[in-house]
Amino acid sequence: MSTEPAQRTPLVVSTREELRDEQMRWALAGSLEAGDEPGRRAVVMTMGALHEGHLELVRRARAEAGPAGQVVVTIFVNPLQFGAGEDLDKYPRDLDGDVAKLAEVGADVVFAPTPDVVYPDGDPVVRVSAGRVGEVLEGASRPGHLDGVLTVVLKLMHLVRPDVALFGEKDAQQLLAVRRMVRDLEVSVEVVGVPTVREADGLALSSRNAYLSPEERERALALSRALRAGAAAADRGAAGVINDAREVLDGADGVVVDYLALVDPVTVDAVTDDFSGPALLLVAARVGSTRLIDNQAVEVSPEVQR
Ligand code: PAJ
Repeated sequence: MSTEPAQRTPLVVSTREELRDEQMRWALAGSLEAGDEPGRRAVVMTMGALHEGHLELVRRARAEAGPAGQVVVTIFVNPLQFGAGEDLDKYPRDLDGDVAKLAEVGADVVFAPTPDVVYPDGDPVVRVSAGRVGEVLEGASRPGHLDGVLTVVLKLMHLVRPDVALFGEKDAQQLLAVRRMVRDLEVSVEVVGVPTVREADGLALSSRNAYLSPEERERALALSRALRAGAAAADRGAAGVINDAREVLDGADGVVVDYLALVDPVTVDAVTDDFSGPALLLVAARVGSTRLIDNQAVEVSPEVQR
C-alpha cells in the first residue's frame, strides 16, 4: 500500500501578496479548528527541476508540519548564487512538471516567484556573508556562492515565515552555513538536515545530473565510490581515509577533481592526521562540463601504530 498522502494539487503562487493571503487563510482556518494540534509551517527551498531527493525533503516536511500544518515549497533559480560563466541561463526549469510531482508528496503551497519579486530593487545592497565558511571548498571554487545562497535563504525565511526549514545533506557545506547563519543571527527557524538520496548505483541525485551523457554518468560514479572507499578506511586514521578516496579518483578517467577534503563538520577546517571523531569527507569534480559534488560522514578512529 502506498504511504503517500492523497494526491492534491498544491496552490501555486508567485507574488508576495498571494503568499501572504494564503498564509492568512491557513492561520484563520487553524484558529477556527481550535482544539486540534495547530500544526507548523515547514518550508523546502529549491531551484526546481525536482527529483526524488527534493521530494524526500517534502515528505519529511509534511511529517515535521503535521497533518494540520502547512508545507510550502519554494522554486526559485537564484541569480545571486551563480557566478559568471556558470549555468544560470541553462539551469533546467519545468514548473508544470515540478507541481505535478509535488502533488504526490503533500505540498500545500508552491511559491515560484520571478527575480523581480524576490529582488524588487535589483541586486540587494545589504547581503548575508557566510564568512569563513563561505571561503573554503565550495567557496574557494565559487566565490560569493554561499553568500548568495544565505541571502536568498534568509529572504525566503522572512517571506514564508516557517517554523521549520529542511535542507539536504547532499549540499553539506550549504546546510552547515545555513545552520551557522540561524545561530549567529538569531533566526527563529528550526533547521532539519535530510540524508542524501542516491540512485541504486550510488550516484547522488542532482538536478545537474540531467547534463550528463550516459558515458559521463558512468564516470560520475567515481565520486560516490571514492567516498565509500574513504569511509571504509576510517580505522586507518584521517590520512588513510583521504588516501583511499584519492586512489579511486586518481584511477577514474575523465573526472577532474576540484577538491577532496576531510573536514571538521562544524568549522569546515581540514582535519589533521592525528584527528579522530566525526568528520565529513567532501568531493567536488568536473565530469565533462558538469560540476558535481558529494559528501559522506566518516567516524575517524585514532590511527594505531602498526
Ligand atoms: P537545489 O539544488 O534545488 O536543492 C534544494 C534542496 O534539495 C537543498 O536543500 C538540497 O541539499 C536538497 N537536495 C538536492 N539533492 C538532494 C539529494 N540527492 N538528497 C537529498 N537532498 C537533496 O540547494 C539549492 O537548491 C539552493 O542553493 C537553495 C537552498 C534553494 C537556495 O537557492
